[in-house]
Amino acid sequence: MKIEFTVNGAPVSVEVPANATLLSVLRDVLGLTGTKEGCGIGECGACSVLLDGHLVNSCLILAPQAGGRQIVTIEGVRAADGGPNDLQQAFIDYGAVQCGYCIPGMILAGEALLAANPRPSRGDIREAIAGNLCRCTGYQQIVDAIQATALRRREKSKHG
Ligand code: FES
Ligand code: FES
Repeated sequence: MKIEFTVNGAPVSVEVPANATLLSVLRDVLGLTGTKEGCGIGECGACSVLLDGHLVNSCLILAPQAGGRQIVTIEGVRAADGGPNDLQQAFIDYGAVQCGYCIPGMILAGEALLAANPRPSRGDIREAIAGNLCRCTGYQQIVDAIQATALRRREKSKHG
């Protein structure tokens, strides 16, 4: 079936089986391989994307459910110059990236949180990334990076 939606601001039209997952369409049809497949059953968050601004596991969404909606993948998160944005840079600076497999999902979970709550506590951050498993970092540095970005964004918005 034909499905039309928006990915990272660009309109997309694909012909896919009705039972295709959004994850498979993103990776296999559109070549957006930044979205990772981990468990395939909604347990790990590696496949996280934003659907109309909400964090979802794309392995659990059927492609037709995405029809007419706005999707943001990790390829859509970047600074104006095309490099890492402030949250991605904080992950680098705080040593929050090891193997990297969970990181696209973590960044999108962080962006969804910061959009909804510019002043998150560490508990809020831990809750926001609770669906995103990381086997490497122990989470501490990821929480540090998200918290530091929240603070920097608040300061930036205060100073104009
Ligand atoms: S691959 Fe989707 S939650 Fe694990
Ligand atoms: S950095 Fe390896 S799973 Fe998170």
